[in-house]
Amino acid sequence: MRTMLVTGGAGFIGSNFVRLAAQRGTARIVVLDALTYAGNRANLEGVEHEFVQGSVTDAPLVDDLVRHCDVVVHFAAESHNDNSLADPSPFVNTNVVGTFTLLEAVRRHGKRLHHISTDEVFGDLPLGGDEAFTEQSPYRPSSPYSATKAGSDHLVRAWVRSFGVKATVSHCSNNFGPYQHVEKFIPRQITNILSGAPAKLYGSGAQVRDWIHVDDHNDAVLAILERGRLGETYNIGAGHGHITNKEVVEMICELLGGTYEHVADRPGHDQRYTMDATKIRGELGWRPQYTDMWVGLEKTITWYAEHEDWWRGAKVGVEKRYAESGQ
Ligand code: NAD
Ligand code: DAU
Repeated sequence: MRTMLVTGGAGFIGSNFVRLAAQRGTARIVVLDALTYAGNRANLEGVEHEFVQGSVTDAPLVDDLVRHCDVVVHFAAESHNDNSLADPSPFVNTNVVGTFTLLEAVRRHGKRLHHISTDEVFGDLPLGGDEAFTEQSPYRPSSPYSATKAGSDHLVRAWVRSFGVKATVSHCSNNFGPYQHVEKFIPRQITNILSGAPAKLYGSGAQVRDWIHVDDHNDAVLAILERGRLGETYNIGAGHGHITNKEVVEMICELLGGTYEHVADRPGHDQRYTMDATKIRGELGWRPQYTDMWVGLEKTITWYAEHEDWWRGAKVGVEKRYAESGQ
């Protein structure tokens, strides 16, 4: 049986990926995760895997794990834009140096790598337009987070071209679903209302994100691992790149019976992300299951309502930090 090394497998998307991959039963799964504030062993409860606590920047550890696996799926990253505005340094270290460390190990041992990237490396699109990001869109990152993700993508592309490393890259839009940290938009609003506080909308709330359910993202990653062409990049999106933040908050308020307020905007706030996923649909036959975002949102709300023990511990600290910046 093949062995799959999953970095960042105790985080939001990574843990949902490990659960899905374990259900499909295609490989033995080894998770490498540093268990930062965003990583949680509880996310993997009941899922068959082996766990190694450590950093993707630890070259000897990474070398040993890569040597003993067949394929690496690289989710580990500092992932929150607001945190990168407060302190960019862990973003440079994990996202850039960590990816470099993995690339050197897969190069030495001739292993396959799939690199999880984001639509944010393309910058943003104007509100009201109908253009979308394709795999050919120029890199134009706005925040320290997206700049470090862009940097890591460039390393992967250079290692493919210069050293023949067997790698693929995917750019996905905003994920939502169970086990997402309460610092992020959708879980923050759900848990605010469940806590009796108003939802918090940055600025006008006119910004647009192309929301995708985490299971649809991970199903696309599995399709790339199975059928993707080496050296290629694939955009992943579910066709929701027209729904505003205000509409999402209004929906959450309607479903949970809450209210919202406008708070300080994010500096440099990207306006619109919309993905063109024609390539992955045509080449790999991938299709999202959650074509109606509201169905996935309702399910996610139910999950948070039923898992207060999972999110309550992190909530107070997160809200204290947001309050300090007027958010
Ligand atoms: P997350 O913050 O929930 O999880 C990140 C995980 O990485 C955590 O378990 C954390 O402990 C681990 N980690 C952090 N630094 C590490 C290090 N130095 N060594 C090993 N592990 C480390 O993030 P997420 O939202 O699940 O995002 C996962 C990946 O998907 C990231 O690469 C992110 O850029 C990308 N992505 C996220 C989204 C989204 O909407 N959340 C969309 C597109 C792409
Ligand atoms: O597009 C993919 C990216 O999506 C990923 O690469 C990132 O890892 C992930 O965090 C996410 O980035 P965003 O910055 O888009 O996500 P966030 O959940 O922080 O915010 C979504 C939108 O909601 C954004 O326009 C800011 C706004 N927002 C956010 C918070 C936390 C609010 O209006 N209120 C809030 O309280």
